[in-house]
Amino acid sequence: MAHADLIAMARENHAYVASGTIQQTDDVCRVPAHLYFDRARWDLEMKQVFRRVPLALALTCEMRNPGDYKAMDVAGVPVLISRDSTGSVRAFVNMCSHRGAVLMPAGNGNAKRFTCPYHAWSYGQDGALIGVYAPKDFGDIDRSAYGLTELRAVERAGIIWVVLDPRSTIDFDAFLAGYDEVLGHFGFADWHFFERRTVKGPNWKIAYDGYMDLYHLPILHKNTFGPQMPNQAIYTAYGAHQRVSSPDPGLAALMDQPESSWPTARLMGGVWTIFPHISIASFEGGGRSVMFSQLFPGDSPEESYTVQNYVMEHAPDAAQIEAATAQFKLLEYVVESEDYATGLAQQRALKTGVREHVLFGRNEGGGQHFHRLLDELLVTPDDQLNDFFARLAASTSR
Ligand code: FES
Ligand SMILES: [Fe+2]
Repeated sequence: MAHADLIAMARENHAYVASGTIQQTDDVCRVPAHLYFDRARWDLEMKQVFRRVPLALALTCEMRNPGDYKAMDVAGVPVLISRDSTGSVRAFVNMCSHRGAVLMPAGNGNAKRFTCPYHAWSYGQDGALIGVYAPKDFGDIDRSAYGLTELRAVERAGIIWVVLDPRSTIDFDAFLAGYDEVLGHFGFADWHFFERRTVKGPNWKIAYDGYMDLYHLPILHKNTFGPQMPNQAIYTAYGAHQRVSSPDPGLAALMDQPESSWPTARLMGGVWTIFPHISIASFEGGGRSVMFSQLFPGDSPEESYTVQNYVMEHAPDAAQIEAATAQFKLLEYVVESEDYATGLAQQRALKTGVREHVLFGRNEGGGQHFHRLLDELLVTPDDQLNDFFARLAASTSR
């Protein structure tokens, strides 16, 4: 099914090229400007979005082996993702059960056990409390009740999703809406983790809008990669998630070839976003690669940071390392000095309050879809969350 989807998306793309038309929504859409800086709205987004929905926090290729772990802070929650001795991914709140110290410092590593820096209590890769320092002095406790707090996690398509709310009953399938199957055609589980960087940016939605926006490419990026880029976009939604591609005249050459011969890598072009905060964009620097960008809210509505993960289909040789490094450097520059510099100025201007709303054109359907569903999600009660995503998946199913 997922492969048939790729073929259908390529045919749709070609149809736009052949007819000289482009995808348009019914109307221009208005988004209230204060939604980009209002503190109460931002708090609600943290609670109703970042704490409730599965977040793509790690890639299989950065923690492939038993004992590999990754510690990180996500929307104020310290998270520890671990691959246990059976190879399964587990996720926990990265907090010691004794008095709440953060267990592992942020970063990746490999450990048989996790030992707290405060009083050396230790936990297994499965989160079980296995060691209490000076237990006779400390006194008796039921160790089985003091393991790490577990978070729900799934690993699919070489991507690890974690839900920050330990009480979550989210239906991963409804949330993913089949998108994980399509993303599976990248084969990320077997890819090579090259490097990561962190870039500071504006409000997370100002930053995220830009990843769904091809309209700006030849303009804002005129001094870097923009001049060769089209400014038109075709959006394909899978529930909350959206693939963004630009009309590709090169697809014409495939149309009279058997579909089975269409190269999968060719069909996977463009930008793949994962709601609410991921963008996957393909590049060729040093061989086939993607920039897997994770946008995280900072400490206030006006701050975010983006972890740019550069992941390559194959481990690079020396020449490819040089090309990949140059490509990665350019992408960091583009995002920091063009996209986010613009976004930071944009949010200062919006905050003056002189404009009530901003606009998303009929050609900016991706941003329209994102803001509409965000509005709905914010008012969806916990006990209706699975229905919400199931309905959304049904409304975009093909
Ligand atoms: S807080 Fe971790 S051992 Fe005391
Ligand atoms: Fe951009």
